[in-house]
Amino acid sequence: MPTAKPGLLNQLNHNYDGLGANPIRVFDAEANQVPDVVKLTLGEPDFNVPAHIKQAAIASINADESHYGPSNGWPKLRRAATGFLKDRYGLAYDPDHELVVTVGATEALHACLAAVLNAGDAVLMPSPTFSLYDQLVRINGATPVYLNTAATGFKLTPAQLAAAIADTPTAKAILLNFPANPTGVTYTRAEVQALAAVCAQTNLVVIADEIYSELTYGFTHTSFAEFLPAQTLVVNGVSKSHAMTGWRIGFVAGPAALMARVALAHAFAVTVASNPAMAGATEALSSEAGRADTIAMKREYLRRRDYVVTAMRALGFTMPTPTGAFYVFAKLPASCGQDDVAFCHALLQQNHLALIAGSGFGPGGEGYVRVSYAASLETLQEAMRRLGDYVHAQA
Ligand SMILES: Cc1ncc(COP(=O)(O)O)c(C=O)c1O
Repeated sequence: MPTAKPGLLNQLNHNYDGLGANPIRVFDAEANQVPDVVKLTLGEPDFNVPAHIKQAAIASINADESHYGPSNGWPKLRRAATGFLKDRYGLAYDPDHELVVTVGATEALHACLAAVLNAGDAVLMPSPTFSLYDQLVRINGATPVYLNTAATGFKLTPAQLAAAIADTPTAKAILLNFPANPTGVTYTRAEVQALAAVCAQTNLVVIADEIYSELTYGFTHTSFAEFLPAQTLVVNGVSKSHAMTGWRIGFVAGPAALMARVALAHAFAVTVASNPAMAGATEALSSEAGRADTIAMKREYLRRRDYVVTAMRALGFTMPTPTGAFYVFAKLPASCGQDDVAFCHALLQQNHLALIAGSGFGPGGEGYVRVSYAASLETLQEAMRRLGDYVHAQA
């Protein structure tokens, strides 16, 4: 095996200095070493991909769709994705110039940031937030600026946003995610409108990660792009709505002049997403059955959410009732101390239950744990039993 020439190593891309592996995946790998562990760590739906979606991918393979597709994605999928955004959220995008199909929402976010950022720019982000954002911003030469939302129920307020904009003259973009990972919180229509009104006074590009938009409980998601289409790049995909995380299909929509740049960043990095996955995503987004799949999964998530929230509150955890996604973000009971990292390690080692420490999601997450309830009810029941054993042992 070759060893890298030492002189090379200090001249590598410094944007990557100090960036390790995703802390969630590191802890998840640690949990895998624990016998009979129960893991509620990853944002990974436990459902199988519905059969009609698999059939669409198989048909694509059998039809020998084995050559490069158009870089922005097959027109059929672009139409399905713009149709989905129109049908669900009232957004109007031209599939030929205003939408790009990407390799998951992750590549969509990367393409947006690569298209927009210059070295020295700042990117605002409410926190706690999805930990990948920090890394994506840094590798694009910019600096994340966290807006701690713990004091306002994990929601960014218009006043806090306006103050942050005034304090951060280098801010080029804001990264919003709702429904939110890790908090499960989302914004009402009026709240989205109020934040959009603040952004409208600026030249900020709003990158709205709405990958959990189909998983809202009791109301329909409002897209940021509805109120601020000229400044918003809206990111979505089929990973969460159709349990297709491993298929790696996402998309970005926005004004044509911005999307031309996003399309370049996408094309230079990956050329195009894979054909069978695009065929499956087309079926997921354009068929009646695809709509029904999400509704059925959502019904099940709601049942699980209610179970976990009730069980954790009974153990002394406190939390806002999550209104979207599939996470509970809970404050530790006083009897367990407030060191969330120590709590998660002890819970893993002593009771073989893996939850994610809140501080890994940025300022405001300290003293919290994230529970992913994208797991079967039986798994959740066992998890709550183990959590109860641990908590009662601390009292
Ligand atoms: C907020 C958020 N954005 C993006 C992603 C990545 O989505 P994808 O698997 O489509 O790349 C995730 C995955 O957990 C997420 O939680």
